[in-house]
Amino acid sequence: MTNELLLKALRENPFVLAPMAGITDSCFRTFMRELGCGVVISELVSAHGIEHKSHRTLQLMAFEPVQRPVGLQLFGDTPEVLASAAKVVEASGADFVDLNFGCPVPKVVKKGGGSAMLKDLPQVERVFRAVRSATDLPVTVKIRTGWDEPSRNAIEVANIAYNEGLTWVAIHGRTRAAGYSGAADWNYISEVKAKSKIPIIGNGDIHSGAAAVQRLRESGCEGVMIGRGCLKNPWIFKEALELYSGAPQEQNNGVRDFIQLFLRLRQAFEGLVDEKITLLQIKKFASWYSSGYPGASQFRKSIFQTRSLEEAMNMTLAFFSELCDGLQPVAQADTSQEAFLMGGHG
Ligand SMILES: Cc1cc2nc3c(=O)[nH]c(=O)nc-3n(C[C@H](O)[C@H](O)[C@H](O)COP(=O)(O)O)c2cc1C
Repeated sequence: MTNELLLKALRENPFVLAPMAGITDSCFRTFMRELGCGVVISELVSAHGIEHKSHRTLQLMAFEPVQRPVGLQLFGDTPEVLASAAKVVEASGADFVDLNFGCPVPKVVKKGGGSAMLKDLPQVERVFRAVRSATDLPVTVKIRTGWDEPSRNAIEVANIAYNEGLTWVAIHGRTRAAGYSGAADWNYISEVKAKSKIPIIGNGDIHSGAAAVQRLRESGCEGVMIGRGCLKNPWIFKEALELYSGAPQEQNNGVRDFIQLFLRLRQAFEGLVDEKITLLQIKKFASWYSSGYPGASQFRKSIFQTRSLEEAMNMTLAFFSELCDGLQPVAQADTSQEAFLMGGHG
């Protein structure tokens, strides 16, 4: 895929699925594409793991054509290892290479990877240059606003990315030091956007389709990236896209949709992973999607005690069908202020 085609895809659907380790695997990316997200990106994949042909690492690189445009995200500590991994990404048939310069996890930053890159701008430049010349694919990067508050440098990183020919910079609006605390700083994201020549994708704390469109418009960014928001509301991308394109909003009978949704989710996992993993995934998604509905906390306790896929599915379908018993669908309470998955690799 060329830069132009990737940017065209972003213009058509500027709502990007955020990479999330342990969540945005190939099954989930296909599922979310069906639910309206635009560009998708794999969870972070170790460039060293690729070099050593680790089976687990190569599994993480799997994707299905229906996900296109699909990027594979690399993390690593040297220009050489990242450049040679980028060649493997290209050979895999993926559409673009995404670099992880946002991961705050000590194991990664101790070696100079992830957000630690932000402390060394000459190294940032070397990595961009090496990866760019190793592949014909578009190269993108996902960063935090900086290592810590006094050293925020997303504007400088965006400038280097532009000079080195990257396609976009995605910014999670927190510093590495902030972890997942406080709120994503959209004022700063807007400032970076205003001062940069390269397309910017803003990211952080988007919990509804309306908020996604509002952030997009107010920040002036070319795209917005949504992570945890789609783990509570799987229709967030569809809602955002409909609002953005002015299409009439579908009548939201969310509860009945959940039944179809879980049948499809089960099918998506069953085709690709074994029953134990499918069971675990159904439990996780059932507990996330139930968030904000009456009886969710008791449901969560019960679902994690189930032993078989059939039992978990039956309990899940019963929970969501019960919500549907009245004439009106039950509204989902806003739980965006509650702590939710306060950790991750970006
Ligand atoms: C469980 C989890 C795993 C994550 N894994 C990655 C990752 O592999 N690569 C990455 O760049 N960001 C990763 N992130 C960060 C997200 O992509 C995103 O930047 C962050 O969650 C803020 O966006 P949100 O508020 O929409 O979730 C992860 C986040 C979470 C919660």
